[in-house]
Amino acid sequence: MKKRILLSAMLAGAALAISPSSYAQDNVFKIGLILPMTGQQASTGKQIEAAVRLYMAQNGNTVAGKKIELIIKDDAATPDVTKRLAQELVVNDKVNVLGGFGVTPAALAAAPIATQSKTPLVVMAAATSSITQASPYIVRTSFTLPQAAVAMGDWAAKNDIKKVVTLVSDYGPGFDAEKYFKDRLAFNGGQVVESLRVPLRNPDFAPFLQKVRDLKPDALFVFVPSGAGAAVMKQFLERGMDKAGIRLIGTGDLTDDDQLNDMGDGALGVVTSHHYSAAHPSAVNKKFVEAFEKANKGMRPNFMAVGGYDGMRVIYEALKASKGNGGGDALLAAMKGQIFESPRGPMFIDAQTRDVVHNIYIRKVQKQNGGLYNVEFDTIKDVKDPGKAK
Ligand code: PHB
Repeated sequence: MKKRILLSAMLAGAALAISPSSYAQDNVFKIGLILPMTGQQASTGKQIEAAVRLYMAQNGNTVAGKKIELIIKDDAATPDVTKRLAQELVVNDKVNVLGGFGVTPAALAAAPIATQSKTPLVVMAAATSSITQASPYIVRTSFTLPQAAVAMGDWAAKNDIKKVVTLVSDYGPGFDAEKYFKDRLAFNGGQVVESLRVPLRNPDFAPFLQKVRDLKPDALFVFVPSGAGAAVMKQFLERGMDKAGIRLIGTGDLTDDDQLNDMGDGALGVVTSHHYSAAHPSAVNKKFVEAFEKANKGMRPNFMAVGGYDGMRVIYEALKASKGNGGGDALLAAMKGQIFESPRGPMFIDAQTRDVVHNIYIRKVQKQNGGLYNVEFDTIKDVKDPGKAK
């Protein structure tokens, strides 16, 4: 008996050894995700990984006869590292698609590699408008800051907020948020009286908030990347800015579902604009949130998770449609124009821009089922990236 087992094991080994190396390549479809799993943006990596694994658990790991192999690399949101990892994934691992990208500089660093190797690159997190123009192989499933900021520029003006100070992280998405909010508010008859920029790395908000207090605007508009919102909220409340009559508004990155429940009741009433809330009242979202929370105890999915989940959908469906034939170009073609219902609501990948078109919701922090949530109360439908109009 023992001998027979040994013999069959040897034969299996021999069969493996003589099979052409292309066999494995042809029957495996590799997805290489580059995410910040450590460092300041680590919550983004954690959220996206959890959502990607959920998508695979729900949809299987064989698509168009190919076995899906997921490779996750940690770039700590450092663009030099992103670039090296993208190169290694393409050249050594021969991935079929790149994905992830927690911050704008990381997505931009990998863009030339996608172009040179004709590898589709799915941006699941980063949100500066111009990213999709950095390579014709980029498709985005996250959002753009202009989409969210313009909606807030409309809402603020309609709600007696005329004089505003903006406070943004000093890099791409912050510049987009600042510009598109400011221009829209001015268009509506309001005014941004001061634009403050805080460093992305280890920001100290205190001196900036002191300045805001002195300027006494109707509201402070904030963009900080996912994971940094709680610190802003804490210092805003500690300084009694709300009691001084200054309203806090921003894009939904500020009241990130990953942190919101720990921000405390001081966050109640804060209004933001965004494409996703864990409280989005649809059957698809309820199912998504329930499954996510069941698989990841203690975690609530945020907008990063949804970008990852929808990114996997776009990849899986593109692989099905192209039947795994035709390489990167066929895969890219099958990503363009996809239209489906996401947990965020209806979603569309614009074939011309390769960017996401979706609803932007105006939400207010409220208590719901014993927790703090961004409760949607207004919808701007099918918003294209305003940054592409130029
Ligand atoms: C970005 O770097 O593009 C970025 C990161 C986090 C956000 C939004 C944008 O929440």
